[in-house]
Amino acid sequence: MKEIHICIGSACHVKGSYQVVQRFKELVAERGLENEVELMGTFCLDACSDGVAVKVDDHIYTVKPEGVDQLFDQIMEGNNGCH
Ligand code: FES
Repeated sequence: MKEIHICIGSACHVKGSYQVVQRFKELVAERGLENEVELMGTFCLDACSDGVAVKVDDHIYTVKPEGVDQLFDQIMEGNNGCH
């Protein structure tokens, strides 16, 4: 199970965290990964610089709404065959 924590702090909200969450939800549904991916909201991750902060396995990424597809692929890579 991958936990994807998406910042819903005020700075990230302004940069589109709502759209980021929606796109992650769509991708999870499209790929049928409901049992493998858990989406969670989190408060400010102190990474409010460039886009919306997303934390996975203690790694913090920043993403814009249009970059979610690419980030999702990056997160799911290396997760093959090891659940
Ligand atoms: S508000 Fe998202 S990292 Fe600070």
